[in-house]
Amino acid sequence: LENGLARTPPMGWLAWERFRCNIDCEADPQNCISEKLFFDMADRLAEDGWRELGYKYINIDDCWSAKQRDGAGQLVPDPKRFPRGIKALADYVHSRGLKLGIYGDLGTLTCGGYPGTTVDCVEQDAQTFAQWGVDMLKLDGCYSSEEEQAEGYPKMAKALNATGRPIVYSCSWPAYQGGLPPKVNYTLLAEICNLWRNYGDIEDSWDSVLSIVDWFSAHQDVLQPAAGPGHWNDPDMEKFHVEVFLRPLSQAASALIFFSRRTDMPFRYTTSLAKLNFPDNTVYEVQDVYSGKIISGLKTGDNFTVVINPSGVVMWYLYPMVQPWCLVRQQGPGG
Ligand code: GLA
Repeated sequence: LENGLARTPPMGWLAWERFRCNIDCEADPQNCISEKLFFDMADRLAEDGWRELGYKYINIDDCWSAKQRDGAGQLVPDPKRFPRGIKALADYVHSRGLKLGIYGDLGTLTCGGYPGTTVDCVEQDAQTFAQWGVDMLKLDGCYSSEEEQAEGYPKMAKALNATGRPIVYSCSWPAYQGGLPPKVNYTLLAEICNLWRNYGDIEDSWDSVLSIVDWFSAHQDVLQPAAGPGHWNDPDMEKFHVEVFLRPLSQAASALIFFSRRTDMPFRYTTSLAKLNFPDNTVYEVQDVYSGKIISGLKTGDNFTVVINPSGVVMWYLYPMVQPWCLVRQQGPGG
């Protein structure tokens, strides 16, 4: 969606994975879906260094709303759990240099059973979110038909735009269509949404993480061209349960990930950039992203060894070192 937002993938924190629909604030006040959780998380992102790394979004998921709309038909937060309201939360989040996301559902009910946004309520709810100062909307797709989704998702894109407030728009639509063409039209999605959920929910288990990695990897030929700036190359499958993922970045840099599926012991993996199809006769500056260690002057043909923990990754950021003749030329006469 060309609304000037999400030029890079938005990063932040979303409540669902850990806190789900826990609304029992009497028994579990620290972990229930309440304004306290989001005020606290804003503090964590702002104070613990996450904001500086680009984790700017604090995103509310399901179960924030009251069980009914108010007398004017407007969505309202649960008055016990969000006594100060979403606007006050947004103001606080902004004061910490962060952005606030909220959750809605195109349908009669949200997946958790709260009031949904039926097609006729799309414009009103977009206005409500904008008035509250919300910066991102995740629009889920429980309790709607295929026809309602086909009408409602593009309609919300227009409605958000019409509010005049910049709001990143995240569509769960493809996840409700099986995630793949021909059912999913990624060209259309790229026009109406800033991002979209293709696949199932992540859970807090290695199985879940692996199933997501595998699904995206299996369907990358379809999924990669649908994405924005930058693009995936074929991940290179090696023997011995090591997989290498490459992502070209701007300015000829690359991210290279060595992923070990071994679960028994650290894997010593020897390869070279030449074997990974990097261009010949190039010299690279490499940084191990986690350790910070630098390898300077790695030639395409040089063999190197990475030690990958079980079920772990080694992540490299690398870029071609500027050749001396190039420096001379850039400086030019008198420069
Ligand atoms: C669906 C979505 C989840 C979450 C829940 C909320 O299951 O896939 O990400 O938003 O609804 O009820």
